[in-house]
Amino acid sequence: METNTQWILSKRPAGEPDLDCFERKETATEEPAEGEILVQTRYLSVDPYMRGRMSEQESYAEPWAVGDPLKGGIVGEVAATESEAYDVGDLVTGEGLWAEYSLLDADDVAPVDPSVAPPEAYLGVLGMPGRTAYFGLLEIGDPAPGETVVVSGAAGAVGSVVGQIAKLNGCRVVGFAGSDEKTTWLTESLGFDAAINYKTTDDYQAALTATAPDGVDVYFDNVGGPITDAVFTQLNLDATVAVCGQIAHYNAESVPTGPRKLPQLIAPRATVQGLLVGDFVTRFEVATDQLSEWVTDGTLEHRESVVEGLSNAPEAFLGLFAGDNIGKQVVQVTADT
Ligand SMILES: NC(=O)c1ccc[n+]([C@@H]2O[C@H](COP(=O)([O-])OP(=O)(O)OC[C@H]3O[C@@H](n4cnc5c(N)ncnc54)[C@H](OP(=O)(O)O)[C@@H]3O)[C@@H](O)[C@H]2O)c1
Repeated sequence: METNTQWILSKRPAGEPDLDCFERKETATEEPAEGEILVQTRYLSVDPYMRGRMSEQESYAEPWAVGDPLKGGIVGEVAATESEAYDVGDLVTGEGLWAEYSLLDADDVAPVDPSVAPPEAYLGVLGMPGRTAYFGLLEIGDPAPGETVVVSGAAGAVGSVVGQIAKLNGCRVVGFAGSDEKTTWLTESLGFDAAINYKTTDDYQAALTATAPDGVDVYFDNVGGPITDAVFTQLNLDATVAVCGQIAHYNAESVPTGPRKLPQLIAPRATVQGLLVGDFVTRFEVATDQLSEWVTDGTLEHRESVVEGLSNAPEAFLGLFAGDNIGKQVVQVTADT
Protein backbone atom coordinates (compact mmCIF):
# COMPACT_ATOMS: atom_id res chain seq x y z
CA MET A 1 0.00 0.00 0.00
CA GLU A 2 1.38 3.43 -0.98
CA THR A 3 1.96 6.15 1.58
CA ASN A 4 -0.14 9.27 1.43
CA THR A 5 1.46 12.57 2.43
CA GLN A 6 -1.09 14.94 3.89
CA TRP A 7 -1.21 18.23 5.82
CA ILE A 8 -2.86 18.50 9.21
CA LEU A 9 -3.68 21.48 11.43
CA SER A 10 -0.97 21.39 14.09
CA LYS A 11 -2.12 24.42 16.11
CA ARG A 12 -4.62 27.23 15.95
CA PRO A 13 -3.28 30.60 14.81
CA ALA A 14 -3.38 33.69 16.99
CA GLY A 15 -3.85 36.53 14.51
CA GLU A 16 -2.04 35.93 11.27
CA PRO A 17 -1.36 32.21 10.69
CA ASP A 18 2.21 31.04 10.05
CA LEU A 19 3.89 27.85 8.87
CA ASP A 20 3.91 26.43 12.44
CA CYS A 21 0.15 25.94 12.12
CA PHE A 22 0.71 23.20 9.54
CA GLU A 23 2.32 19.78 9.85
CA ARG A 24 2.98 17.06 7.30
CA LYS A 25 1.94 13.54 8.10
CA GLU A 26 2.44 10.23 6.30
CA THR A 27 -0.51 7.84 6.32
CA ALA A 28 -1.37 4.72 4.36
CA THR A 29 -3.41 5.17 1.20
CA GLU A 30 -6.81 3.59 1.70
CA GLU A 31 -8.57 1.26 -0.72
CA PRO A 32 -11.98 2.38 -2.03
CA ALA A 33 -15.05 0.57 -0.72
CA GLU A 34 -18.25 0.09 -2.75
CA GLY A 35 -19.31 3.45 -4.28
CA GLU A 36 -15.96 5.12 -3.54
CA ILE A 37 -13.05 6.28 -5.67
CA LEU A 38 -9.44 7.01 -4.78
CA VAL A 39 -8.39 10.30 -6.35
CA GLN A 40 -4.78 11.33 -6.93
CA THR A 41 -4.61 15.10 -6.51
CA ARG A 42 -3.40 17.16 -9.45
CA TYR A 43 -4.47 20.56 -8.14
CA LEU A 44 -5.49 21.64 -4.67
CA SER A 45 -7.41 24.82 -3.90
CA VAL A 46 -6.38 27.15 -1.07
CA ASP A 47 -9.11 29.62 -0.11
CA PRO A 48 -9.51 32.52 2.34
CA TYR A 49 -12.45 30.81 4.12
CA MET A 50 -10.00 28.18 5.40
CA ARG A 51 -8.70 30.81 7.84
CA GLY A 52 -12.09 30.59 9.56
CA ARG A 53 -11.80 26.80 9.75
CA MET A 54 -8.46 27.13 11.57
CA SER A 55 -10.13 29.03 14.44
CA GLU A 56 -12.12 27.52 17.26
CA GLN A 57 -15.00 29.96 17.00
CA GLU A 58 -17.67 29.41 14.36
CA SER A 59 -17.17 31.12 11.02
CA TYR A 60 -19.33 30.41 8.02
CA ALA A 61 -17.40 27.14 7.65
CA GLU A 62 -17.11 24.45 10.32
CA PRO A 63 -13.89 24.67 12.41
CA TRP A 64 -11.17 22.06 11.96
CA ALA A 65 -9.95 20.32 15.11
CA VAL A 66 -6.23 20.47 15.87
CA GLY A 67 -4.74 17.28 14.39
CA ASP A 68 -7.42 17.10 11.69
CA PRO A 69 -6.39 16.67 8.06
CA LEU A 70 -6.90 19.89 6.10
CA LYS A 71 -9.59 19.77 3.46
CA GLY A 72 -10.23 21.70 0.28
CA GLY A 73 -11.35 21.59 -3.30
CA ILE A 74 -9.27 19.30 -5.51
CA VAL A 75 -9.02 18.26 -9.11
CA GLY A 76 -7.49 14.86 -9.60
CA GLU A 77 -7.30 11.61 -11.47
CA VAL A 78 -9.15 8.47 -10.42
CA ALA A 79 -6.44 6.05 -9.26
CA ALA A 80 -8.73 3.23 -8.08
CA THR A 81 -12.47 2.82 -8.32
CA GLU A 82 -15.31 0.83 -6.81
CA SER A 83 -17.91 2.92 -8.63
CA GLU A 84 -19.47 2.33 -12.01
CA ALA A 85 -19.63 6.08 -12.55
CA TYR A 86 -15.85 6.56 -12.92
CA ASP A 87 -12.99 4.66 -14.52
CA VAL A 88 -9.33 4.78 -13.56
CA GLY A 89 -7.79 7.79 -15.29
CA ASP A 90 -10.95 9.96 -15.26
CA LEU A 91 -10.50 13.54 -14.09
CA VAL A 92 -12.86 14.66 -11.32
CA THR A 93 -13.32 17.53 -8.91
CA GLY A 94 -14.66 17.51 -5.36
CA GLU A 95 -13.88 18.24 -1.74
CA GLY A 96 -10.71 16.34 -0.84
CA LEU A 97 -7.70 16.57 1.43
CA TRP A 98 -4.52 18.61 1.32
CA ALA A 99 -2.91 15.31 0.35
CA GLU A 100 -1.58 13.24 -2.50
CA TYR A 101 -4.65 11.01 -2.39
CA SER A 102 -8.26 11.44 -1.23
CA LEU A 103 -10.83 8.71 -0.80
CA LEU A 104 -14.14 10.15 -2.00
CA ASP A 105 -17.71 9.03 -2.44
CA ALA A 106 -18.32 8.92 -6.20
CA ASP A 107 -21.63 10.75 -5.66
CA ASP A 108 -19.75 13.73 -4.20
CA VAL A 109 -17.52 14.47 -7.19
CA ALA A 110 -18.15 15.96 -10.62
CA PRO A 111 -16.40 15.18 -13.89
CA VAL A 112 -13.78 17.57 -15.25
CA ASP A 113 -13.76 18.21 -18.98
CA PRO A 114 -10.29 19.45 -19.97
CA SER A 115 -11.57 20.39 -23.43
CA VAL A 116 -13.55 23.25 -21.82
CA ALA A 117 -10.70 24.64 -19.72
CA PRO A 118 -7.51 23.41 -18.07
CA PRO A 119 -8.23 21.21 -15.03
CA GLU A 120 -7.16 23.89 -12.51
CA ALA A 121 -9.91 26.21 -13.78
CA TYR A 122 -12.40 23.80 -12.17
CA LEU A 123 -11.18 25.16 -8.81
CA GLY A 124 -11.67 28.77 -9.93
CA VAL A 125 -13.94 30.14 -12.61
CA LEU A 126 -15.64 26.74 -13.13
CA GLY A 127 -15.64 25.86 -9.43
CA MET A 128 -16.82 27.29 -6.13
CA PRO A 129 -15.43 30.83 -6.69
CA GLY A 130 -17.05 31.13 -10.12
CA ARG A 131 -20.40 30.00 -8.74
CA THR A 132 -20.07 32.45 -5.84
CA ALA A 133 -19.52 35.28 -8.32
CA TYR A 134 -22.38 34.16 -10.56
CA PHE A 135 -25.10 33.81 -7.92
CA GLY A 136 -23.79 36.55 -5.66
CA LEU A 137 -23.77 39.16 -8.37
CA LEU A 138 -26.84 38.14 -10.37
CA GLU A 139 -29.15 37.13 -7.52
CA ILE A 140 -28.05 39.28 -4.59
CA GLY A 141 -26.44 42.27 -6.29
CA ASP A 142 -28.90 42.04 -9.21
CA PRO A 143 -27.52 45.04 -11.11
CA ALA A 144 -29.45 46.68 -13.94
CA PRO A 145 -27.72 47.76 -17.17
CA GLY A 146 -26.18 51.20 -16.80
CA GLU A 147 -25.73 50.85 -13.04
CA THR A 148 -22.35 51.11 -11.32
CA VAL A 149 -20.94 47.98 -9.68
CA VAL A 150 -17.94 48.23 -7.37
CA VAL A 151 -16.08 45.05 -6.42
CA SER A 152 -13.33 44.70 -3.82
CA GLY A 153 -10.77 41.90 -4.03
CA ALA A 154 -11.37 42.45 -7.73
CA ALA A 155 -8.35 40.59 -9.10
CA GLY A 156 -9.00 37.46 -7.05
CA ALA A 157 -10.87 34.27 -7.91
CA VAL A 158 -14.34 35.59 -7.10
CA GLY A 159 -13.84 39.28 -7.84
CA SER A 160 -12.39 38.83 -11.33
CA VAL A 161 -15.48 36.85 -12.37
CA VAL A 162 -17.90 39.26 -10.67
CA GLY A 163 -16.52 42.22 -12.61
CA GLN A 164 -16.68 40.43 -15.95
CA ILE A 165 -20.28 39.29 -15.43
CA ALA A 166 -21.24 42.83 -14.40
CA LYS A 167 -19.71 44.10 -17.66
CA LEU A 168 -21.73 41.49 -19.59
CA ASN A 169 -24.79 42.94 -17.88
CA GLY A 170 -24.02 46.40 -19.24
CA CYS A 171 -22.78 47.93 -15.97
CA ARG A 172 -20.00 50.39 -15.20
CA VAL A 173 -17.48 48.37 -13.19
CA VAL A 174 -14.85 49.63 -10.77
CA GLY A 175 -12.50 47.28 -8.91
CA PHE A 176 -10.20 47.59 -5.91
CA ALA A 177 -7.01 45.49 -5.99
CA GLY A 178 -3.59 45.51 -4.38
CA SER A 179 -1.03 46.04 -7.16
CA ASP A 180 -0.55 47.86 -10.47
CA GLU A 181 -0.17 44.51 -12.21
CA LYS A 182 -3.61 43.57 -10.93
CA THR A 183 -5.31 46.87 -11.79
CA THR A 184 -3.79 46.76 -15.29
CA TRP A 185 -5.13 43.22 -15.78
CA LEU A 186 -8.59 44.36 -14.68
CA THR A 187 -8.82 47.32 -17.03
CA GLU A 188 -6.79 46.08 -20.00
CA SER A 189 -7.79 42.42 -20.14
CA LEU A 190 -11.04 42.01 -18.23
CA GLY A 191 -12.78 45.18 -19.40
CA PHE A 192 -13.25 46.90 -16.02
CA ASP A 193 -13.94 50.61 -16.56
CA ALA A 194 -11.57 51.57 -13.76
CA ALA A 195 -9.47 49.94 -11.07
CA ILE A 196 -7.99 51.41 -7.91
CA ASN A 197 -4.74 50.15 -6.40
CA TYR A 198 -5.70 50.48 -2.75
CA LYS A 199 -2.11 50.00 -1.61
CA THR A 200 -0.88 53.13 -3.41
CA THR A 201 -4.03 55.27 -3.04
CA ASP A 202 -4.40 57.42 0.08
CA ASP A 203 -7.95 58.67 -0.34
CA TYR A 204 -10.28 55.84 -1.39
CA GLN A 205 -13.33 58.10 -1.26
CA ALA A 206 -11.78 60.60 -3.71
CA ALA A 207 -10.66 57.73 -5.95
CA LEU A 208 -14.22 56.44 -6.02
CA THR A 209 -15.72 59.85 -6.75
CA ALA A 210 -13.39 60.05 -9.73
CA THR A 211 -14.02 56.52 -11.05
CA ALA A 212 -17.68 56.05 -10.09
CA PRO A 213 -18.96 59.61 -10.63
CA ASP A 214 -22.63 58.51 -10.63
CA GLY A 215 -22.28 56.76 -7.27
CA VAL A 216 -22.44 53.05 -6.44
CA ASP A 217 -25.56 50.96 -7.09
CA VAL A 218 -24.14 47.53 -6.25
CA TYR A 219 -21.15 46.83 -4.04
CA PHE A 220 -19.78 43.27 -4.10
CA ASP A 221 -17.68 43.13 -0.95
CA ASN A 222 -14.90 40.55 -0.72
CA VAL A 223 -12.71 42.33 1.80
CA GLY A 224 -14.36 44.71 4.32
CA GLY A 225 -12.11 47.17 6.19
CA PRO A 226 -11.30 50.68 4.96
CA ILE A 227 -12.29 49.91 1.35
CA THR A 228 -15.80 49.06 2.46
CA ASP A 229 -15.90 52.14 4.72
CA ALA A 230 -15.17 54.28 1.65
CA VAL A 231 -17.69 52.55 -0.62
CA PHE A 232 -20.43 53.03 1.99
CA THR A 233 -20.03 56.82 1.61
CA GLN A 234 -20.83 56.60 -2.11
CA LEU A 235 -23.95 54.40 -2.14
CA ASN A 236 -26.89 55.51 -4.30
CA LEU A 237 -30.55 55.36 -3.34
CA ASP A 238 -31.65 51.70 -3.06
CA ALA A 239 -28.07 50.45 -3.37
CA THR A 240 -27.35 46.78 -2.67
CA VAL A 241 -24.31 45.47 -0.83
CA ALA A 242 -23.54 41.76 -1.27
CA VAL A 243 -21.26 40.75 1.60
CA CYS A 244 -19.28 37.85 0.22
CA GLY A 245 -16.08 37.98 2.28
CA GLN A 246 -14.22 40.13 4.81
CA ILE A 247 -10.63 39.01 4.37
CA ALA A 248 -9.31 42.26 5.88
CA HIS A 249 -10.75 41.05 9.21
CA TYR A 250 -10.00 37.32 9.12
CA ASN A 251 -6.76 37.61 11.11
CA ALA A 252 -8.05 40.21 13.59
CA GLU A 253 -7.87 39.05 17.19
CA SER A 254 -10.64 41.37 18.36
CA VAL A 255 -13.40 43.32 16.67
CA PRO A 256 -12.22 46.91 16.11
CA THR A 257 -14.27 49.48 18.05
CA GLY A 258 -15.08 53.03 17.14
CA PRO A 259 -17.60 54.91 15.00
CA ARG A 260 -19.36 52.59 12.60
CA LYS A 261 -20.24 53.28 8.99
CA LEU A 262 -23.82 52.09 9.34
CA PRO A 263 -25.25 55.67 9.33
CA GLN A 264 -24.08 55.78 5.71
CA LEU A 265 -26.73 53.17 4.87
CA ILE A 266 -29.68 55.27 6.11
CA ALA A 267 -30.09 57.94 3.44
CA PRO A 268 -29.59 55.52 0.51
CA ARG A 269 -31.96 52.98 2.18
CA ALA A 270 -29.29 50.44 1.23
CA THR A 271 -29.85 46.72 1.45
CA VAL A 272 -26.92 44.74 2.85
CA GLN A 273 -27.12 40.99 2.38
CA GLY A 274 -24.73 38.24 3.33
CA LEU A 275 -24.00 35.72 0.64
CA LEU A 276 -23.23 32.01 1.04
CA VAL A 277 -22.58 30.09 -2.13
CA GLY A 278 -23.87 26.87 -0.52
CA ASP A 279 -27.38 28.34 -0.51
CA PHE A 280 -27.47 27.89 -4.27
CA VAL A 281 -26.40 24.23 -4.28
CA THR A 282 -29.50 22.97 -6.07
CA ARG A 283 -28.68 25.26 -9.00
CA PHE A 284 -24.89 24.87 -9.17
CA GLU A 285 -25.22 23.19 -12.57
CA VAL A 286 -26.95 26.25 -14.03
CA ALA A 287 -23.98 28.41 -13.07
CA THR A 288 -21.37 25.87 -14.16
CA ASP A 289 -23.06 25.42 -17.56
CA GLN A 290 -23.25 29.17 -18.16
CA LEU A 291 -19.71 29.81 -16.94
CA SER A 292 -18.40 26.92 -19.10
CA GLU A 293 -20.12 28.40 -22.14
CA TRP A 294 -18.61 31.83 -21.46
CA VAL A 295 -15.16 30.31 -20.94
CA THR A 296 -15.41 28.19 -24.10
CA ASP A 297 -16.49 31.07 -26.34
CA GLY A 298 -13.90 33.41 -24.83
CA THR A 299 -16.41 35.74 -23.17
CA LEU A 300 -14.88 35.14 -19.74
CA GLU A 301 -11.18 35.37 -19.10
CA HIS A 302 -9.72 33.39 -16.22
CA ARG A 303 -6.35 33.15 -14.61
CA GLU A 304 -4.82 30.80 -12.07
CA SER A 305 -1.75 31.40 -9.92
CA VAL A 306 0.00 28.06 -9.54
CA VAL A 307 2.33 27.16 -6.67
CA GLU A 308 4.24 23.95 -7.38
CA GLY A 309 4.28 21.06 -4.93
CA LEU A 310 2.13 19.82 -2.07
CA SER A 311 4.97 20.76 0.29
CA ASN A 312 4.31 24.43 -0.55
CA ALA A 313 0.56 24.37 0.12
CA PRO A 314 0.79 26.29 3.44
CA GLU A 315 2.85 29.06 1.76
CA ALA A 316 0.27 29.26 -1.02
CA PHE A 317 -2.50 29.64 1.56
CA LEU A 318 -0.62 32.31 3.52
CA GLY A 319 0.05 34.17 0.26
CA LEU A 320 -3.68 34.90 -0.06
CA PHE A 321 -3.37 37.37 2.82
CA ALA A 322 -0.39 39.08 1.18
CA GLY A 323 -2.17 39.29 -2.18
CA ASP A 324 0.35 37.01 -3.93
CA ASN A 325 -2.28 35.57 -6.24
CA ILE A 326 -3.80 36.94 -9.42
CA GLY A 327 -7.03 35.10 -10.16
CA LYS A 328 -7.43 31.74 -8.44
CA GLN A 329 -4.64 30.42 -6.20
CA VAL A 330 -4.04 26.70 -6.66
CA VAL A 331 -1.31 24.25 -5.71
CA GLN A 332 -0.09 21.81 -8.35
CA VAL A 333 0.46 18.45 -6.65
CA THR A 334 1.19 16.22 -9.66
CA ALA A 335 1.98 17.17 -13.23
CA ASP A 336 -0.61 17.22 -16.01
CA THR A 337 -0.25 14.23 -18.30
N1 LIG B 1 -19.56 33.73 1.11
C1 LIG B 1 -19.18 32.78 0.28
O1 LIG B 1 -19.90 31.84 -0.03
C2 LIG B 1 -17.79 32.88 -0.28
C3 LIG B 1 -17.34 32.01 -1.28
C4 LIG B 1 -16.05 32.21 -1.81
C5 LIG B 1 -15.26 33.22 -1.32
N2 LIG B 1 -15.72 34.01 -0.32
C6 LIG B 1 -14.93 35.15 0.18
O2 LIG B 1 -14.70 36.01 -0.91
C7 LIG B 1 -13.46 36.64 -0.77
C8 LIG B 1 -12.61 36.40 -2.01
O3 LIG B 1 -12.31 35.01 -2.07
P1 LIG B 1 -11.39 34.46 -3.23
O4 LIG B 1 -11.39 33.00 -3.13
O5 LIG B 1 -11.78 35.10 -4.51
O6 LIG B 1 -9.96 34.98 -2.79
P2 LIG B 1 -8.97 35.83 -3.66
O7 LIG B 1 -9.60 37.17 -3.89
O8 LIG B 1 -8.55 35.05 -4.85
O9 LIG B 1 -7.71 35.98 -2.71
C9 LIG B 1 -7.71 36.82 -1.62
C10 LIG B 1 -7.31 38.25 -2.04
O10 LIG B 1 -7.73 39.14 -1.00
C11 LIG B 1 -6.94 40.30 -1.07
N3 LIG B 1 -6.65 40.75 0.29
C12 LIG B 1 -5.94 40.09 1.24
N4 LIG B 1 -5.90 40.82 2.37
C13 LIG B 1 -6.59 41.96 2.12
C14 LIG B 1 -6.90 43.13 2.89
N5 LIG B 1 -6.49 43.26 4.16
N6 LIG B 1 -7.62 44.12 2.30
C15 LIG B 1 -8.02 44.01 1.02
N7 LIG B 1 -7.78 42.93 0.24
C16 LIG B 1 -7.07 41.93 0.79
C17 LIG B 1 -5.65 39.95 -1.83
O11 LIG B 1 -5.62 40.69 -3.05
P3 LIG B 1 -5.07 42.20 -3.11
O12 LIG B 1 -3.73 42.13 -3.77
O13 LIG B 1 -6.09 42.88 -3.93
O14 LIG B 1 -4.96 42.69 -1.70
C18 LIG B 1 -5.81 38.46 -2.14
O15 LIG B 1 -5.31 38.12 -3.41
C19 LIG B 1 -12.83 36.12 0.51
O16 LIG B 1 -13.09 37.03 1.55
C20 LIG B 1 -13.56 34.81 0.74
O17 LIG B 1 -13.60 34.45 2.09
C21 LIG B 1 -16.95 33.86 0.20
